[in-house]
Amino acid sequence: MNWTPTSWHSKKIRQVPDYTDKQFLQKAEDRLASYPPLVFAGEARDLKNKLAQVCRGESFLLQGGDCAESFAEHSGDNIRDFFRVFMQMAAILTFGTCSPIVKIGRIAGQFAKPRSSDTEIIDGIELPSYRGDIINSIEFDKEAREPNAEAMIKVYRQSAATLNLIRAFAKGGYADLRLTHNWTLDYLNNSKVIDKYHEIANAINDILDFMQACGVYSDNTKALKETDFYTSHEALLLNYEQALVRIDSTTNEWYATSAHFLWIGDRTRDPDEAHVEFCRGIKNPLGVKCGPSLSVDSLLTLCDILNPDNEEGRLTLICRFGSDEVNKHLPNLIEGIKKEGRNVVWCCDPMHGNTIKASNGYKTRDLKTIFAEVQKFIDIHNQHDTHPGGVHFEMTGKDVTECIGGGISCVSEENLSDRYHTHCDPRLNASQALELAFMITDKIKQRSKKNNITT
Ligand code: PEP
Ligand code: CO
Repeated sequence: MNWTPTSWHSKKIRQVPDYTDKQFLQKAEDRLASYPPLVFAGEARDLKNKLAQVCRGESFLLQGGDCAESFAEHSGDNIRDFFRVFMQMAAILTFGTCSPIVKIGRIAGQFAKPRSSDTEIIDGIELPSYRGDIINSIEFDKEAREPNAEAMIKVYRQSAATLNLIRAFAKGGYADLRLTHNWTLDYLNNSKVIDKYHEIANAINDILDFMQACGVYSDNTKALKETDFYTSHEALLLNYEQALVRIDSTTNEWYATSAHFLWIGDRTRDPDEAHVEFCRGIKNPLGVKCGPSLSVDSLLTLCDILNPDNEEGRLTLICRFGSDEVNKHLPNLIEGIKKEGRNVVWCCDPMHGNTIKASNGYKTRDLKTIFAEVQKFIDIHNQHDTHPGGVHFEMTGKDVTECIGGGISCVSEENLSDRYHTHCDPRLNASQALELAFMITDKIKQRSKKNNITT
């Protein structure tokens, strides 16, 4: 199939920096290429198998994390708080839907950002746009905005440290279901969403007591004390991705080892261009962001290129149309995919089609429209008898005020400036993320009820 890790160089490419010092870039790439892989191909295959279950409607995908990770926000507390909220969401969904949850973080590599404009103008001064810490720095000065290849090395090291802690949490006892109560964050102690969460945690504890009486407990049952947690990011900076592809010695096939799952962004998914060329050759499970400009024909071409064997679990379509547009676009894509018998995971990203500018200039998202898009996504799948496989969202464990709304810790436009810390898009805070998990659970429960009655 004429693919090599470098074949993308012969294609048109968008959204990449122009490194002025090519020799310095080459040196950084060579160093990265000599470093150990961050993930192991066998783990990526396990994830593909789990996504195949999602594809068949047997489980549900939860994917989320920062819009952009940053060097400034790298700390153990941040990783722990993110992990806690994520595990709480997963507990709510597992308990409420009685379905296994596949957990994928936007973490340990999510550093490169596509931008709507190549430059940014402030007070009449024009500089290159910030493209994520792996490329340049957010400060508005000329030197900071120069692409710096050394940042790729820093990202690799930060990702390794992040992944190390996540693996420790997932496998070292912190994910034990007996600890469901302990995952809550102190600053949420007085909120109603936490009362609701503790009800579930109590119920889980009762079940665990019962199982213990029957002889099933953490010490003799791995599934009760460990979880599988996978990493993902947008495969945008191909210099970084290329340096981290490796041939898997057990299968002799190429894998990206920067993360278990990579996705192609809405702005770089042209079938004839570099990002699709790079991704088609690696065996990891892949995602493609699907926005309003994606035609059925183009989607089917992408399926041909990225999933020629029509493998279940290989391809996840991450739909991000916006709550006003989802009814217009999603049914056509579903029909096209169904007619051609393509195996895909349908996932809803209710964040990127719902970004707005508040009257005070902040880039934000309203929880109402986020919820509305997820609800419409599930309704449309119900109408087409297809599986609403999962959700993809931007969130943090920190008590930020970046998205507005939320019945509990309601953030208003006026509050946005209180704790607006994101390096790129506005994220859900912990309370908003939990509300989202409860809403999805209710919606999926209704769907199951309906299916039981009709079948
Ligand atoms: C993102 O996921 O942060 C992003 C930029 O998404 P999209 O490609 O859907 O715009
Ligand atoms: Co984003």
